[in-house]
Amino acid sequence: MVLKNFFNKTKCEKKIAEESVNLEVIPSHIAIIMDGNGRWAKKRAMPRIAGHHEGMKTVRKIARVADDLGVKVLTLYAFSTENWKRPKSEIEFLMSLPEKFLNDFLPEIMERNIRVQMIGEKEGLPEHTKKALNKALEKTKNNTGLILNFAMNYGSRAEIVNAIKKMMIDVQEGTLNFDSITEETMNQYLMTSHLPEPDLLIRTSGEVRLSNFMLWQLAYTEFWFTDTLWPDFNEETFLEAIQAYQKRNRRYGGLKGEEMY
Ligand code: FPP
Repeated sequence: MVLKNFFNKTKCEKKIAEESVNLEVIPSHIAIIMDGNGRWAKKRAMPRIAGHHEGMKTVRKIARVADDLGVKVLTLYAFSTENWKRPKSEIEFLMSLPEKFLNDFLPEIMERNIRVQMIGEKEGLPEHTKKALNKALEKTKNNTGLILNFAMNYGSRAEIVNAIKKMMIDVQEGTLNFDSITEETMNQYLMTSHLPEPDLLIRTSGEVRLSNFMLWQLAYTEFWFTDTLWPDFNEETFLEAIQAYQKRNRRYGGLKGEEMY
């Protein structure tokens, strides 16, 4: 397999050269709960927002390596519906990050043929955040490479409730037949209707929970947790997660090959 723009990181190249990462079995959709920015900053006696700023740099690093490896979708949990409970100054900073990130990175996103998308309630975001996201969504809409999918103002339970409400309206209006509703119908009413389900979920910082993230979509996803704080997460840690994924035996509730006999 020839890598597109392979990053010049010796340790990663070594891992790949040692064939500990199989480039033929790269997860199509990787979802990440980026956690630990605050603790990263605290350890350095810095304000929490410094951790978020550093975390934004990690987003760029991981988007690049995901693109280089041929990942199809990278979904990043950037702001949850619960994050509104944080101090106003931190929220304001988090809401400025898409703008900051896209100002710097959009030319490279275009060069790499990356498509920016988002899931979450866009309408609840401040105007300037929406504007930055809309610009990137519009500008990259015809790109056919990696889908860089930001979950912003996203909450999975709200997403599921909204999907059910939309289905009920469609049943009432006669455009959806109650008896024909299946799991696939549900998939079609979620914000991820156009995406494959995540193959691999990564959560950083040692927390081992889902925090209202893609609850429906993660039903058969492989989970990988690391103590590494998000700002310290890098190409090598990302490859470690992929390597662990490649050792998993995905059975989707069934049995495989020889286990059948
Ligand atoms: C959780 O860490 C992290 C967040 C709530 C924000 C994540 C956002 C980024 C990594 C940057 C996003 C970049 C773009 C371009 C949108 P935490 O603050 O809860 O960490 P803690 O648990 O250590 O306090």
